[in-house]
Amino acid sequence: MPSFRRSVLALALVVSQLNSAQAAFAPSVGKVSLQHATSAASSSAKYMSTEVDDSGKYTYGEKSREYRRTVYSHEDWVKHRSPNRFYRNISSITQSGVYKNLAKEVVATTSVATFVCLWNCIFGDYQDFNSVSHAGPLKDSIIPILALPLAPFTLASPSLGLLLTFRANTAYTRWDEARKNWGMNINHTRDLVRLGNAYYDRSAVSPERAEDDLKRLALCTWAFVRSMKRHLSPEWDDEEPFRQEMLEKLPKEQAEAIFAAAHRPNRALQDLSVAIENLPMNFIRKNEIHRAATIFEDNLGSSERLLTSPIPLFYSRHTARFLSFWLLLLPFALWEPLGGSWNHINMIPVTTVLSLFLFGIEELATQLEEPFTILPMQGFCDKIYNWCTEIVSFAPGDNGMPIYKNKGNPVSSAGTLIN
Ligand SMILES: *[C@@H]1O[C@H](CO)[C@@H](O)[C@H](O)[C@H]1NC(C)=O
Ligand SMILES: *[C@@H]1O[C@H](CO)[C@@H](O)[C@H](O)[C@H]1NC(C)=O
Repeated sequence: MPSFRRSVLALALVVSQLNSAQAAFAPSVGKVSLQHATSAASSSAKYMSTEVDDSGKYTYGEKSREYRRTVYSHEDWVKHRSPNRFYRNISSITQSGVYKNLAKEVVATTSVATFVCLWNCIFGDYQDFNSVSHAGPLKDSIIPILALPLAPFTLASPSLGLLLTFRANTAYTRWDEARKNWGMNINHTRDLVRLGNAYYDRSAVSPERAEDDLKRLALCTWAFVRSMKRHLSPEWDDEEPFRQEMLEKLPKEQAEAIFAAAHRPNRALQDLSVAIENLPMNFIRKNEIHRAATIFEDNLGSSERLLTSPIPLFYSRHTARFLSFWLLLLPFALWEPLGGSWNHINMIPVTTVLSLFLFGIEELATQLEEPFTILPMQGFCDKIYNWCTEIVSFAPGDNGMPIYKNKGNPVSSAGTLIN
């Protein structure tokens, strides 16, 4: 049966084409050209040289998280809204990190589709290149063709949709909470140094000491957020830069004490509390400033909770299993409905595309679930450093505005509560 052999050959050809198309999605680390690879040249060199690490450190998916730490400016929003967005997003589809991570799953479902297609051509009917139907070589054996009705899949799909929606939604909520924790950090670091600077009783001490105290306050504030960033980042990602930066900016002894602590953000908060206590001012005002430190504790606690507690695993497992079975069995159900195409061949690309999109939802939810390695925490810390050191450089009267030293303040003129 030469025409049968030709058909099988053609099928094999199509399949090999498809598989090589998928090779483009595979995490073949060396080939991948990362977008926005501006800032992390050195770390990407490290990752280029290592295919897949035992602990999964330098796989494409893990490394690509560095490039997801987006910070938007007005120009980015203009681009974001631009009418070209669909065109750009579709043309960059082969560079999608989310899809690259799905290579194995998509190859698996596509292989099932290919297998079903071949099986059914052998044990059922097949068409030759002139679309003439023939009986397959083993049609008359007792082995049946592989096909399932589509109805059970249609019935199950709303539940699958709900599971995936919940998964993606919850993951986004976790990202949002982590972002808000950092938002509160940004808010209250600024607030803390503003209050420290405004309440500082400059009449009580020399200008040099005032400058020193306030600089220390800004530095200790920064040291806390930087230690919090380190605490929430993987060691291999942040330990070295953390040590370097701390030694650069802090007095050596203070930096070493933080490095040596079992819980570094706690140690940094202790330093900050001492720096607050050292400010010459009324204790009521000091307490007001200490309140910001309490908010830092809360942000830290909330972030630690997100880091240590995933969405309950039985939920994620059930979603992954439901989705995998649904997609692995789908090709059996696509045999009949896609019978209009030559040898039902359309079931193969349809399976590929459906698995890419559905596994994609699960994948992006999983990528979002641990938010800290995709949040631009380094950017937040740098900004906090710049803002805090700028705020403490302001001094009353430095813009020509007159200052009236506590005059007209009944409490201070009574002499009981002056700083
Ligand atoms: C895809 O669309 C989004 C949303 O409009 C846009 O921000 C992004 O820049 C686009 N992606 C590419 C690669 O252009
Ligand atoms: C800043 O603080 C206010 C009040 O605590 C809060 O409503 C706001 O969300 C915070 N900003 C960010 C970015 O979290």
